[in-house]
Amino acid sequence: MRALHVVKFERSMKVLGIETSCDETAAAVYDTERGVCSSVLFSQIPAHHAFGGVVPELASRSHIEKIPHIVSEALTTAFCDASEVDVVAVTTRPGLPGSLLVGVCFAKALAYALNRPIVGVDHLEGHIASAYLEQVVPVPFPHLCLTASGGHTALYIVHDYGTYELLGRTADDAAGEAFDKVARLLGFGYPGGAVIEQRAKEGGFQDYRAYPRMRHRGMSFSFSGIKTAVLYDLVQRGYYDLQAKKVVRIDERNTIEVASSLLVAIGDIFLDRIACALAEHAVKGITFVGGVAANRYLTQRIAQFAREHGYVFASPSPCYCTDNAAMIAYVGHYRAQRALFDTLAVDIAPRT
Ligand code: KG4
Ligand code: ZN
Repeated sequence: MRALHVVKFERSMKVLGIETSCDETAAAVYDTERGVCSSVLFSQIPAHHAFGGVVPELASRSHIEKIPHIVSEALTTAFCDASEVDVVAVTTRPGLPGSLLVGVCFAKALAYALNRPIVGVDHLEGHIASAYLEQVVPVPFPHLCLTASGGHTALYIVHDYGTYELLGRTADDAAGEAFDKVARLLGFGYPGGAVIEQRAKEGGFQDYRAYPRMRHRGMSFSFSGIKTAVLYDLVQRGYYDLQAKKVVRIDERNTIEVASSLLVAIGDIFLDRIACALAEHAVKGITFVGGVAANRYLTQRIAQFAREHGYVFASPSPCYCTDNAAMIAYVGHYRAQRALFDTLAVDIAPRT
């Protein structure tokens, strides 16, 4: 049951955020007066590393084990007793079903025990809101938001808190997935974005290979072609054995050149899509969020573009780019201020 009216909390509001949609168990406390008071996270990356991607069963089991400790730590770090929590916010969609269920069931039990309202949060809305977490001056509405993570790449016009319009999304792989898949081709583990950035830096962010920039219809993205272009480039040069499905004899210099060229190409694709969106929509700012926004090269390119064209630019610190619960708590606070609560019947919606 939802109602729309602005609720006046007599004192500052404390929101406990919980995030378990994929391979991070995270909890955070957001206070309307003090901002982010804690943001605690257990990353399962080492557990999935050897498999080259997230193993859903391992992910849910790890969430079950870690969530009580992570929530306790978030409360302790924020000097917040559980009884002081005003609202519980939890990611309900999209994500791995088993992982989402752990966070949602824990949040429901907590909200029930504390007799506090619960807010179900869309993970992607959380990423959009992550751009506001550290801003002293609010990012003006409407603004264009580029969200790029391991599972999603999309452009939105954000009209207000929680009111956003999808302009386009990826037709195939997400940008983060392209980094992860190329990293795997090169023989690195999962996730691959950070290591690709490191190698690209060693290559001076030069475009050695001129991989094709896929132009897609409308405002959508496409990244599977670039991954295939890298694959055939490696095969042609004798660095990848298609039958054995593994990298062979690639030297450091070529690894650097592939990584650098991939990053420059993805930067070009981002800027091309952003420019297309701005040609059709009048906005005041640009935000860049999601795990891929932890990439300093990409952030700097988009920031420079925004500066040159007179737009306000915001992108979170790397710790709020990748999955975290502070962004979930932040969405919880503005929903709670409008009394957009859910009931304890709130369910997960893995695919929306
Ligand atoms: O937002 P996120 O933590 O999880 C999802 O919701 O998917 O994003 C993870 C993605 C991974 O694909 C990872 O390779 C990418 O973000 N990533 C990066 C960097 N750090 C993480 N991509 C490019 N450069 C980075 N520095
Ligand atoms: Zn995410």
